[in-house]
Amino acid sequence: MLTQIRSTRPVPPDSGPPLVDRQARQVRYLRLSLTDRCNYRCTYCMPSEGIEHRPRAEMLTHEELVAICRAFAAWGVERVRLTGGEPTVRRGLVELVRSLRAIEVRGGGRLEVVMTTNGERLAELAAPLAEAGLSGLTVSVDSFDPERFLRITRRGDLSKVLAGIDAAIQHGLAPKLNTVAIRGFNDDELPGIARYAWDRGLVPRFIEVMPMSGGALFIPGELLPAATIRAMMADAFGAEIAQDSGKAVRGLGPATYWRVDGGPYAGRSFGLIAAMTENFCASCNRLRLSATGQLHACLARDESGDLRAALRHGGAGALEAAVRRLLSEKQDGHRFALDGSGGPTKAMISIGG
Ligand code: 5AD
Ligand code: SF4
Repeated sequence: MLTQIRSTRPVPPDSGPPLVDRQARQVRYLRLSLTDRCNYRCTYCMPSEGIEHRPRAEMLTHEELVAICRAFAAWGVERVRLTGGEPTVRRGLVELVRSLRAIEVRGGGRLEVVMTTNGERLAELAAPLAEAGLSGLTVSVDSFDPERFLRITRRGDLSKVLAGIDAAIQHGLAPKLNTVAIRGFNDDELPGIARYAWDRGLVPRFIEVMPMSGGALFIPGELLPAATIRAMMADAFGAEIAQDSGKAVRGLGPATYWRVDGGPYAGRSFGLIAAMTENFCASCNRLRLSATGQLHACLARDESGDLRAALRHGGAGALEAAVRRLLSEKQDGHRFALDGSGGPTKAMISIGG
Protein backbone atom coordinates (compact mmCIF):
# COMPACT_ATOMS: atom_id res chain seq x y z
CA MET A 1 0.00 0.00 0.00
CA LEU A 2 1.32 3.39 -0.90
CA THR A 3 1.14 5.57 2.16
CA GLN A 4 2.07 9.17 2.56
CA ILE A 5 5.25 10.20 0.74
CA ARG A 6 7.34 12.30 3.09
CA SER A 7 10.18 14.54 2.00
CA THR A 8 12.73 12.08 3.35
CA ARG A 9 11.19 9.30 1.28
CA PRO A 10 10.67 10.55 -2.27
CA VAL A 11 10.27 7.10 -3.78
CA PRO A 12 8.71 4.06 -2.12
CA PRO A 13 10.52 0.70 -2.43
CA ASP A 14 10.00 -1.13 -5.73
CA SER A 15 8.91 1.94 -7.59
CA GLY A 16 9.80 2.14 -11.26
CA PRO A 17 12.04 -0.16 -13.27
CA PRO A 18 15.67 -0.74 -12.20
CA LEU A 19 18.23 1.78 -13.40
CA VAL A 20 19.70 0.69 -16.71
CA ASP A 21 21.80 2.79 -19.07
CA ARG A 22 21.89 2.83 -22.87
CA GLN A 23 24.33 -0.09 -22.97
CA ALA A 24 22.07 -2.15 -20.67
CA ARG A 25 24.51 -1.79 -17.77
CA GLN A 26 22.45 -1.99 -14.60
CA VAL A 27 23.39 0.47 -11.88
CA ARG A 28 23.86 -1.31 -8.56
CA TYR A 29 26.44 0.92 -7.01
CA LEU A 30 26.50 4.61 -6.13
CA ARG A 31 29.54 6.60 -5.05
CA LEU A 32 28.57 9.36 -2.70
CA SER A 33 30.93 12.27 -2.17
CA LEU A 34 30.28 13.72 1.30
CA THR A 35 32.49 16.78 1.03
CA ASP A 36 34.76 18.62 -1.40
CA ARG A 37 37.29 19.15 1.40
CA CYS A 38 40.29 17.10 2.36
CA ASN A 39 42.90 17.15 5.10
CA TYR A 40 45.52 16.17 2.46
CA ARG A 41 46.62 17.88 -0.77
CA CYS A 42 47.80 14.97 -2.92
CA THR A 43 49.79 16.43 -5.77
CA TYR A 44 47.94 14.53 -8.54
CA CYS A 45 44.53 15.39 -7.07
CA MET A 46 44.67 19.06 -6.08
CA PRO A 47 46.76 22.11 -6.84
CA SER A 48 48.89 23.18 -3.82
CA GLU A 49 46.63 26.13 -3.07
CA GLY A 50 43.64 23.77 -2.83
CA ILE A 51 40.44 24.33 -4.78
CA GLU A 52 37.57 26.70 -4.34
CA HIS A 53 35.05 25.01 -2.06
CA ARG A 54 31.35 25.20 -2.75
CA PRO A 55 29.33 27.14 -0.16
CA ARG A 56 27.74 25.12 2.63
CA ALA A 57 24.20 25.85 1.43
CA GLU A 58 24.98 23.92 -1.76
CA MET A 59 26.03 20.79 0.13
CA LEU A 60 23.45 18.04 0.43
CA THR A 61 22.29 17.71 4.01
CA HIS A 62 22.18 14.46 5.97
CA GLU A 63 18.43 14.22 5.28
CA GLU A 64 18.85 14.88 1.57
CA LEU A 65 21.58 12.24 1.27
CA VAL A 66 19.33 9.73 2.98
CA ALA A 67 16.39 10.66 0.76
CA ILE A 68 18.43 10.29 -2.41
CA CYS A 69 19.85 6.94 -1.28
CA ARG A 70 16.36 5.67 -0.45
CA ALA A 71 15.33 6.45 -3.98
CA PHE A 72 18.39 4.74 -5.48
CA ALA A 73 17.92 1.70 -3.25
CA ALA A 74 14.36 1.44 -4.50
CA TRP A 75 15.67 1.45 -8.07
CA GLY A 76 18.14 -1.38 -7.44
CA VAL A 77 21.27 0.19 -5.97
CA GLU A 78 22.61 -2.23 -3.36
CA ARG A 79 25.78 -0.54 -2.23
CA VAL A 80 26.97 3.02 -1.64
CA ARG A 81 30.57 4.04 -1.24
CA LEU A 82 31.29 7.16 0.77
CA THR A 83 34.05 9.30 -0.73
CA GLY A 84 35.09 12.94 -0.73
CA GLY A 85 37.29 14.88 -0.82
CA GLU A 86 37.93 13.00 2.34
CA PRO A 87 34.71 11.59 3.84
CA THR A 88 36.03 11.54 7.41
CA VAL A 89 36.21 15.34 7.52
CA ARG A 90 32.42 15.54 7.23
CA ARG A 91 30.65 16.17 10.52
CA GLY A 92 28.11 13.54 11.51
CA LEU A 93 29.76 10.80 9.43
CA VAL A 94 29.03 7.99 11.89
CA GLU A 95 25.36 8.97 12.17
CA LEU A 96 25.10 9.16 8.41
CA VAL A 97 26.49 5.64 8.07
CA ARG A 98 23.87 4.45 10.55
CA SER A 99 21.04 6.14 8.63
CA LEU A 100 22.17 4.86 5.23
CA ARG A 101 22.69 1.34 6.57
CA ALA A 102 19.05 1.25 7.68
CA ILE A 103 17.72 1.82 4.14
CA GLU A 104 15.86 -1.08 2.60
CA VAL A 105 16.94 -2.13 -0.88
CA ARG A 106 14.75 -3.27 -3.74
CA GLY A 107 14.09 -6.96 -3.31
CA GLY A 108 14.90 -7.03 0.39
CA GLY A 109 17.87 -6.52 2.66
CA ARG A 110 19.65 -3.35 3.72
CA LEU A 111 21.87 -0.98 1.86
CA GLU A 112 25.53 -1.89 2.10
CA VAL A 113 27.71 1.07 3.09
CA VAL A 114 31.43 1.15 2.39
CA MET A 115 33.97 3.97 2.34
CA THR A 116 37.22 5.11 0.74
CA THR A 117 39.49 7.16 2.98
CA ASN A 118 43.04 8.45 3.24
CA GLY A 119 43.17 6.85 6.69
CA GLU A 120 44.42 9.89 8.60
CA ARG A 121 41.46 9.76 11.04
CA LEU A 122 40.80 6.06 10.90
CA ALA A 123 42.50 5.10 14.16
CA GLU A 124 39.78 6.91 16.11
CA LEU A 125 36.92 6.26 13.67
CA ALA A 126 37.26 2.54 12.87
CA ALA A 127 35.38 1.38 15.98
CA PRO A 128 32.39 3.76 15.74
CA LEU A 129 32.11 3.26 11.98
CA ALA A 130 32.10 -0.52 12.34
CA GLU A 131 29.52 -0.26 15.08
CA ALA A 132 27.34 1.99 12.88
CA GLY A 133 27.31 -0.69 10.19
CA LEU A 134 30.07 0.22 7.77
CA SER A 135 30.94 -3.04 6.04
CA GLY A 136 33.89 -2.28 3.80
CA LEU A 137 36.80 0.06 3.56
CA THR A 138 39.46 1.13 1.11
CA VAL A 139 42.47 3.06 2.34
CA SER A 140 44.62 5.03 -0.10
CA VAL A 141 48.36 4.94 0.59
CA ASP A 142 50.84 5.93 -2.09
CA SER A 143 54.08 5.34 -0.19
CA PHE A 144 55.26 3.53 2.92
CA ASP A 145 58.19 5.88 3.30
CA PRO A 146 57.19 8.68 5.72
CA GLU A 147 59.11 11.37 3.87
CA ARG A 148 57.71 10.39 0.47
CA PHE A 149 54.25 10.10 1.96
CA LEU A 150 54.51 13.64 3.25
CA ARG A 151 55.76 14.82 -0.14
CA ILE A 152 52.85 13.33 -2.14
CA THR A 153 50.10 14.27 0.34
CA ARG A 154 51.76 17.61 1.23
CA ARG A 155 50.64 17.10 4.86
CA GLY A 156 49.95 13.45 5.64
CA ASP A 157 51.29 11.57 8.66
CA LEU A 158 52.03 8.00 7.57
CA SER A 159 52.14 6.69 11.15
CA LYS A 160 48.51 7.75 11.64
CA VAL A 161 47.45 5.97 8.47
CA LEU A 162 49.25 2.77 9.48
CA ALA A 163 47.61 2.94 12.92
CA GLY A 164 44.29 3.48 11.11
CA ILE A 165 44.78 0.39 8.97
CA ASP A 166 45.55 -1.68 12.09
CA ALA A 167 42.47 -0.30 13.85
CA ALA A 168 40.31 -1.13 10.84
CA ILE A 169 41.60 -4.71 10.77
CA GLN A 170 41.00 -5.02 14.50
CA HIS A 171 37.37 -3.95 14.07
CA GLY A 172 36.62 -6.35 11.24
CA LEU A 173 37.02 -3.80 8.45
CA ALA A 174 40.08 -5.29 6.71
CA PRO A 175 40.61 -2.63 4.06
CA LYS A 176 41.69 -2.86 0.45
CA LEU A 177 44.78 -0.73 -0.09
CA ASN A 178 44.78 1.65 -3.07
CA THR A 179 48.06 2.98 -4.38
CA VAL A 180 48.33 5.33 -7.32
CA ALA A 181 51.36 3.97 -9.22
CA ILE A 182 53.64 6.84 -10.19
CA ARG A 183 56.79 6.32 -12.23
CA GLY A 184 59.77 7.97 -10.57
CA PHE A 185 57.94 8.25 -7.25
CA ASN A 186 56.83 4.87 -5.91
CA ASP A 187 57.56 2.36 -8.68
CA ASP A 188 60.35 0.86 -6.54
CA GLU A 189 57.86 0.29 -3.68
CA LEU A 190 55.04 -1.59 -5.35
CA PRO A 191 56.20 -5.13 -4.50
CA GLY A 192 56.89 -4.00 -0.92
CA ILE A 193 53.41 -2.48 -0.65
CA ALA A 194 51.94 -5.76 -1.91
CA ARG A 195 53.92 -7.69 0.69
CA TYR A 196 52.77 -5.33 3.46
CA ALA A 197 49.15 -5.92 2.39
CA TRP A 198 49.45 -9.69 2.00
CA ASP A 199 51.19 -10.09 5.35
CA ARG A 200 48.05 -8.58 6.91
CA GLY A 201 45.57 -10.49 4.76
CA LEU A 202 44.71 -7.38 2.71
CA VAL A 203 44.39 -6.91 -1.04
CA PRO A 204 46.61 -4.25 -2.65
CA ARG A 205 45.44 -2.43 -5.76
CA PHE A 206 47.46 -0.23 -8.07
CA ILE A 207 45.86 2.63 -9.97
CA GLU A 208 47.05 4.26 -13.17
CA VAL A 209 47.20 8.00 -12.78
CA MET A 210 44.41 9.72 -14.73
CA PRO A 211 44.28 13.21 -16.25
CA MET A 212 41.57 14.93 -14.24
CA SER A 213 41.32 18.77 -13.89
CA GLY A 214 41.70 19.26 -17.65
CA GLY A 215 45.05 17.50 -17.49
CA ALA A 216 46.56 20.30 -15.37
CA LEU A 217 48.11 17.96 -12.78
CA PHE A 218 49.00 15.14 -15.16
CA ILE A 219 52.62 14.38 -16.04
CA PRO A 220 52.67 11.83 -18.90
CA GLY A 221 56.05 10.37 -17.80
CA GLU A 222 54.50 9.39 -14.46
CA LEU A 223 52.02 6.95 -15.95
CA LEU A 224 52.96 3.40 -15.05
CA PRO A 225 50.97 1.11 -17.37
CA ALA A 226 49.26 -1.93 -15.87
CA ALA A 227 51.33 -4.25 -18.09
CA THR A 228 54.53 -2.74 -16.65
CA ILE A 229 53.23 -3.22 -13.11
CA ARG A 230 52.54 -6.90 -13.84
CA ALA A 231 56.06 -7.29 -15.24
CA MET A 232 57.52 -5.62 -12.14
CA MET A 233 55.54 -7.95 -9.87
CA ALA A 234 56.61 -11.00 -11.90
CA ASP A 235 60.20 -9.89 -11.52
CA ALA A 236 59.97 -9.12 -7.81
CA PHE A 237 58.26 -12.38 -6.89
CA GLY A 238 60.05 -14.59 -9.42
CA ALA A 239 56.78 -16.03 -10.68
CA GLU A 240 54.26 -15.78 -13.48
CA ILE A 241 51.37 -13.37 -12.98
CA ALA A 242 48.04 -14.87 -14.01
CA GLN A 243 44.66 -13.21 -14.27
CA ASP A 244 42.57 -14.09 -11.23
CA SER A 245 39.07 -14.11 -12.67
CA GLY A 246 37.62 -15.85 -9.62
CA LYS A 247 38.43 -12.72 -7.70
CA ALA A 248 36.23 -10.36 -9.73
CA VAL A 249 34.52 -8.15 -7.21
CA ARG A 250 30.80 -8.37 -6.86
CA GLY A 251 28.91 -6.39 -9.45
CA LEU A 252 31.82 -5.91 -11.86
CA GLY A 253 34.11 -3.18 -10.61
CA PRO A 254 36.77 -1.50 -12.71
CA ALA A 255 39.62 -3.44 -11.08
CA THR A 256 41.03 -6.58 -12.62
CA TYR A 257 42.73 -9.05 -10.30
CA TRP A 258 46.04 -10.84 -10.82
CA ARG A 259 47.62 -13.74 -8.98
CA VAL A 260 51.21 -14.63 -8.21
CA ASP A 261 51.68 -18.12 -9.62
CA GLY A 262 54.64 -19.51 -7.68
CA GLY A 263 57.21 -18.67 -5.02
CA PRO A 264 56.56 -17.80 -1.37
CA TYR A 265 53.63 -15.56 -2.26
CA ALA A 266 51.94 -18.05 -4.57
CA GLY A 267 48.19 -17.53 -4.68
CA ARG A 268 48.29 -13.94 -3.40
CA SER A 269 46.54 -11.45 -5.63
CA PHE A 270 46.56 -7.77 -6.41
CA GLY A 271 44.21 -5.48 -8.28
CA LEU A 272 44.87 -3.12 -11.16
CA ILE A 273 42.70 -0.14 -12.02
CA ALA A 274 43.91 0.69 -15.48
CA ALA A 275 41.64 3.30 -17.00
CA MET A 276 44.44 4.58 -19.22
CA THR A 277 45.78 1.42 -20.86
CA GLU A 278 43.18 -1.32 -20.28
CA ASN A 279 39.78 0.25 -20.70
CA PHE A 280 37.08 -1.16 -18.44
CA CYS A 281 34.11 0.98 -19.47
CA ALA A 282 32.10 -2.05 -20.59
CA SER A 283 31.83 -3.27 -17.01
CA CYS A 284 31.07 0.10 -15.43
CA ASN A 285 28.03 -0.22 -13.19
CA ARG A 286 28.22 2.89 -11.05
CA LEU A 287 27.02 6.43 -10.73
CA ARG A 288 28.70 9.20 -8.77
CA LEU A 289 27.05 11.92 -6.75
CA SER A 290 29.07 15.01 -5.84
CA ALA A 291 28.70 16.58 -2.40
CA THR A 292 26.57 19.30 -3.97
CA GLY A 293 24.16 16.79 -5.50
CA GLN A 294 25.43 16.67 -9.08
CA LEU A 295 25.02 13.17 -10.47
CA HIS A 296 27.83 12.07 -12.81
CA ALA A 297 27.42 9.04 -15.05
CA CYS A 298 31.16 8.90 -15.77
CA LEU A 299 34.30 9.86 -13.84
CA ALA A 300 35.98 10.90 -17.07
CA ARG A 301 33.28 13.23 -18.38
CA ASP A 302 31.78 16.45 -17.16
CA GLU A 303 28.11 15.84 -17.96
CA SER A 304 25.97 15.78 -14.83
CA GLY A 305 22.41 16.02 -13.62
CA ASP A 306 21.40 18.37 -10.81
CA LEU A 307 19.71 16.16 -8.19
CA ARG A 308 19.90 18.88 -5.55
CA ALA A 309 17.71 21.20 -7.59
CA ALA A 310 15.39 18.32 -8.49
CA LEU A 311 14.99 17.35 -4.85
CA ARG A 312 14.73 20.87 -3.41
CA HIS A 313 12.44 22.33 -6.05
CA GLY A 314 10.77 19.41 -7.78
CA GLY A 315 10.31 16.43 -5.44
CA ALA A 316 10.12 12.70 -6.16
CA GLY A 317 9.08 12.85 -9.81
CA ALA A 318 11.71 15.44 -10.71
CA LEU A 319 14.42 13.41 -8.96
CA GLU A 320 13.55 10.28 -10.87
CA ALA A 321 13.33 12.16 -14.17
CA ALA A 322 16.76 13.76 -13.62
CA VAL A 323 18.38 10.39 -12.84
CA ARG A 324 16.81 8.54 -15.77
CA ARG A 325 17.60 11.38 -18.17
CA LEU A 326 21.28 11.32 -17.21
CA LEU A 327 21.44 7.55 -17.61
CA SER A 328 19.75 7.58 -20.99
CA GLU A 329 22.35 10.08 -22.19
CA LYS A 330 25.37 8.23 -20.76
CA GLN A 331 28.11 8.02 -23.39
CA ASP A 332 29.82 4.77 -24.39
CA GLY A 333 33.31 5.29 -23.01
CA HIS A 334 35.91 7.80 -21.92
CA ARG A 335 38.42 9.79 -23.96
CA PHE A 336 41.40 9.76 -21.60
CA ALA A 337 44.56 9.91 -23.73
CA LEU A 338 48.11 9.01 -22.75
CA ASP A 339 49.30 12.57 -23.31
CA GLY A 340 46.91 13.82 -20.61
CA SER A 341 44.26 15.15 -22.96
CA GLY A 342 40.67 14.01 -23.23
CA GLY A 343 39.85 14.06 -19.51
CA PRO A 344 37.18 16.08 -17.74
CA THR A 345 37.65 19.59 -16.38
CA LYS A 346 36.36 18.45 -12.97
CA ALA A 347 38.92 17.81 -10.22
CA MET A 348 39.21 14.40 -8.57
CA ILE A 349 38.69 16.07 -5.17
CA SER A 350 35.21 17.15 -6.27
CA ILE A 351 34.06 13.64 -7.17
CA GLY A 352 36.10 11.25 -5.04
CA GLY A 353 37.47 8.79 -7.59
N1 5AD B 1 44.44 9.48 -10.97
C1 5AD B 1 44.30 8.27 -10.36
N2 5AD B 1 43.86 8.11 -9.11
C2 5AD B 1 43.57 9.21 -8.41
N3 5AD B 1 43.12 9.38 -7.16
C3 5AD B 1 42.96 10.69 -6.93
N4 5AD B 1 43.32 11.40 -8.01
C4 5AD B 1 43.69 10.51 -8.97
C5 5AD B 1 44.16 10.61 -10.30
N5 5AD B 1 44.30 11.79 -10.91
C6 5AD B 1 42.86 8.25 -6.26
C7 5AD B 1 43.15 8.49 -4.81
C8 5AD B 1 42.30 7.45 -4.15
C9 5AD B 1 41.15 7.25 -5.10
C10 5AD B 1 39.86 7.72 -4.58
O1 5AD B 1 41.49 7.96 -6.29
O2 5AD B 1 44.49 8.30 -4.48
O3 5AD B 1 42.99 6.23 -4.00
FE1 SF4 C 1 42.53 14.06 -0.40
FE2 SF4 C 1 42.25 11.73 -1.64
FE3 SF4 C 1 42.65 13.95 -3.07
FE4 SF4 C 1 44.62 12.96 -1.60
S1 SF4 C 1 43.65 11.97 -3.38
S2 SF4 C 1 43.99 15.13 -1.70
S3 SF4 C 1 43.55 12.14 0.16
S4 SF4 C 1 40.88 13.51 -1.81
